[in-house]
Amino acid sequence: MNIIKLLDLYSGEYIKENKFYILFFIIFTFFYYILEVVGIGFILSKLNSKINQQYVIYFLILSLVLVISTYIRGYLESKLSSDIATFSRKKFFKGLLQRYKTNYQDLNIGKSINRIFAVTLEYRFAVINFFKLTLPCIFILLLTTGIILKLNLHIGLFLLGCLFIAFLITIREYNIISKHKISQEKFFYNSFDNLNDQVNNLMNSYLNNENKNEQNRINDDQDKYKEKVFNAENSVNYINTYLIFNLMIFLSFIVYYFYKNKINDKIFFVVVLIYFVSNYITLGKELGILIPHLGISMASSDYFYNLLKNNDNGKIKNTKAGNIKFKNVSFAYNRNKIINNMSFIVQDKSKVAIIGRSGSGKTTLTKLMLKLYDNYEGNIYFGDQNIKNIDTDYLRKKIIYVNQRTNLLERPVIDNINYGNNVDKQVIIHLLNKYNLLEIFQGLKNGVNEICSVGGTNLSLGMQKVIILLRGILKSNNSQLMIFDEPLAGLDAKTRQKIIKMILNECKNKTILVITHDEEIIPYMDKTLNLQDINK
Ligand SMILES: Nc1ncnc2c1ncn2[C@@H]1O[C@H](COP(=O)(O)OP(=O)(O)OP(=O)(O)O)[C@@H](O)[C@H]1O
Ligand SMILES: [Mg+2]
Repeated sequence: MNIIKLLDLYSGEYIKENKFYILFFIIFTFFYYILEVVGIGFILSKLNSKINQQYVIYFLILSLVLVISTYIRGYLESKLSSDIATFSRKKFFKGLLQRYKTNYQDLNIGKSINRIFAVTLEYRFAVINFFKLTLPCIFILLLTTGIILKLNLHIGLFLLGCLFIAFLITIREYNIISKHKISQEKFFYNSFDNLNDQVNNLMNSYLNNENKNEQNRINDDQDKYKEKVFNAENSVNYINTYLIFNLMIFLSFIVYYFYKNKINDKIFFVVVLIYFVSNYITLGKELGILIPHLGISMASSDYFYNLLKNNDNGKIKNTKAGNIKFKNVSFAYNRNKIINNMSFIVQDKSKVAIIGRSGSGKTTLTKLMLKLYDNYEGNIYFGDQNIKNIDTDYLRKKIIYVNQRTNLLERPVIDNINYGNNVDKQVIIHLLNKYNLLEIFQGLKNGVNEICSVGGTNLSLGMQKVIILLRGILKSNNSQLMIFDEPLAGLDAKTRQKIIKMILNECKNKTILVITHDEEIIPYMDKTLNLQDINK
């Protein structure tokens, strides 16, 4: 991958959005160095003749302008480098969350977070290095070459040749160093996985007396990694050596030229030449730092591309109806096949019960509809559209899933009810009254204002269930399909009846799927799907 693609991946959007700022920064920097090199060079070159008052005034003005410009340039530079550096991290985290949304199990989220932090830190070093050191060196080299070209065409051409060869060396070495760094990084992440695996299986390794072998494996890995690091570091050594070699050859020509010819305004010439040489040497060292950082950023590019690939841009955001179709769907959690070639249809606005023994895959089925996993075979359609083509956020507004598990937040009951739907307290109270459900919370000291403890353990299971059901129903405004996973579990007979009434009443214009072990609700449904029958 070339450098342009790398920049595009890490900072493309930022650069596009801030192109004028970046342009302004570059122009300002360029003028700043003209001031620094030409101004200081010129003033120092006059020191050998007698200096007058005017000289002192010029010197003071130059000093003042230089100090102020240094601050402004530094400010622009810090803003730009910190912005660019942070931008990539935000972008990858967004990609990670987006990806995780549809791929719960595939992605080791902890590992991805580590990688995003580690690699964007490397990229950040590269960006800061570039703006603070590399770019100024490049400017000064171009500027000094330009000045010398004007002072003496022959020597100017020598310097230009020197820069051109240095450029070729850098491109060549950039490719070599990057390859080493990529190989080093790949190895690092592989051994990271292996180590993780080993640590997770420590118990097995102890029981099988394998710990000595495991230790040897770790040592072998570390030795191989050491070799990779050495190769990468040593490849940096080459670029420095080649660049200095190149410089010394051209300087020899220049020394010879000085020896043979008379040079006018020698002091100014020498000051500018010293600027050139010192910046050339600094640039060589900087490239030796910058390129490995870029190499590491490059080594993770494919990983980040993959992370960002799975977004919902341009996907469908309108579905006319709430019908569902499963066509030859198969799905496994890590090779443990749960859904096997399943096909069924649920008509729009119909009421369907899904039954089946514990662990038969009822909850899994709804997770597939909600695109929590996308690695299934076959096709799932919602509103006649393949859900793969439907925007994920949109889909989750149209399908409301009332979870079987209740994970309450450590907040008042009422806040737990309006979590994700933001309706007014009055609306909630009205709904509770409408179905005589308020009495359920009367046992609590503060009623619906009682604060739930973590996990809701200070509430009865029935209270928790009602909270979750209300939360879902209040979210149902724009939805087309309501899925209730075990809505009656843990409730007494009287409350079960109230809940059935509420579900049927509040969701009457929508498709309703009820996953249940309770026979009680089945007579109210249009159809019953038994997983034992449709899961082959
Ligand atoms: N995240 C997961 N990773 C691995 N296996 C899982 C995961 N979630 C569920 N399973 C397994 O998939 C099978 C189906 O689980 P699922 O929760 O869909 O069953 P269910 O029909 O809803 O059961 P219940 O009636 O008890 O709620 C079970 O064997 C379960 O162990
Ligand atoms: Mg379940």
